[in-house]
Amino acid sequence: MADQIRVLIVDDIPETRDHLTKLLGFETDIEVVGSASSGKEALDLAVKLSPDVVLMDINMPDMDGIAATEQLAARAPGAAVVMMSVQGEADYLRRSMLAGAREFLVKPFSSDELTTSIRQVHIREREKLSRMAVVPVRATNGTAAADDREPGIIVAFFSPKGGVGRTTIAVNMAVAAATDLGKKVVLVDASFQFGDVGVLLNLNPRNKSIADLAPELEIGEPESIDTFVINHSSGIRVLLAPPSPEMAELVTTSGVKKVLEALRATNDLVIVDCTSWFNDTTLAILDMADVILTMLSLEITSIKNMRMFLEVADQLGYEPSKVRLVLNRADSTLGIRVSDVEHSIGRKVDHTIVSDGRSVVYALNRGVPFFLSNREAQVSQDVLRLATAIVGEARVAPVAAAEGKVAAKKSLFAWR
Ligand SMILES: Nc1ncnc2c1ncn2[C@@H]1O[C@H](COP(=O)(O)OP(=O)(O)O)[C@@H](O)[C@H]1O
Ligand SMILES: [Mg+2]
Repeated sequence: MADQIRVLIVDDIPETRDHLTKLLGFETDIEVVGSASSGKEALDLAVKLSPDVVLMDINMPDMDGIAATEQLAARAPGAAVVMMSVQGEADYLRRSMLAGAREFLVKPFSSDELTTSIRQVHIREREKLSRMAVVPVRATNGTAAADDREPGIIVAFFSPKGGVGRTTIAVNMAVAAATDLGKKVVLVDASFQFGDVGVLLNLNPRNKSIADLAPELEIGEPESIDTFVINHSSGIRVLLAPPSPEMAELVTTSGVKKVLEALRATNDLVIVDCTSWFNDTTLAILDMADVILTMLSLEITSIKNMRMFLEVADQLGYEPSKVRLVLNRADSTLGIRVSDVEHSIGRKVDHTIVSDGRSVVYALNRGVPFFLSNREAQVSQDVLRLATAIVGEARVAPVAAAEGKVAAKKSLFAWR
């Protein structure tokens, strides 16, 4: 059959090769075209047989699976590698992905996991190739040649303190912009270790995440980014954080930049839910953002940290109009008034959102954004107002000189 997935099995243990061959023999859309017992043999066979997918054991005596995968990229670039390992540690995973593997299976795996991985890898690879065939020439400035739309706006949700409502408001603003303002919206969970965008949207944690994109990001442009972005029933699209904290290290700063550039090229609005940690990646996101929605609550620690952040933002050369203050739970009676906050930080609050524990928690527990489940609530109206204010505005031109930023970044870490 012409559209069968051609698989090459590589494992130094003969029983494993036989077992895998038998398992795959039951699948009508998969054909085992050969099997190799070493990395070297795998390279020779891959060149000769042009398999679509190579099932590669990571531990082999002569040339291990990682070295073989690296060489395959040059000698049989059409073959996508699915790495198999008895060790599930992050380091193995990271090294495999960096070598160019597309998937990672921890032994023992079920035949379902095996065939699903093979099919998914194959589909992604095929989509990537067809995209490259359709758009053979890329613009020299690095932007997608196929799409001459205006680049979208990147909005970063940030706060120097956690638990103030960034994720909650980011998710709902994304939904509001998509449903009521008709924007093409993608939401990026940049809380790479403990992202909870997926929970708020009730998305299956087995979905693809930014960690699956890592190998492509190391190689170059993320060609098939769309296959990693999940469609949510509300109409927004979501790029999830990795499913477990140790996978966060697969996501590099340069990778995140490429992702945001690519998403900006094909969406009206890219909303990024950042962590409170100031690291290179967070700074890169804030640098790239057109607008930083800096969220605070009526708590003394939140206000203190905000004051520090505003000083840092100033040192980084961010225009005051790029940094917007969003006061969440603005009406909660905690003995601090909005005017006290403004006085303390020396700036006006730009947007306010009311506190509505009932709507927010009810929505959270059901995995449905409150903007959908309680559209009439004041908190939803506030979120819509925020979305309208941001998406309706012109992009903010970057102003800071690069050297100034570097100096400011150095001093930035001094106060942590
Ligand atoms: N406007 C609001 N009214 C009531 N509760 C809120 C509101 N915004 C956020 N919360 C609650 O505050 C908590 C922290 O929100 P979360 O979005 O996870 O914060 P962050 O992402 O900044 O850590 C959650 O329990 C959330 O339900
Ligand atoms: Mg959060």
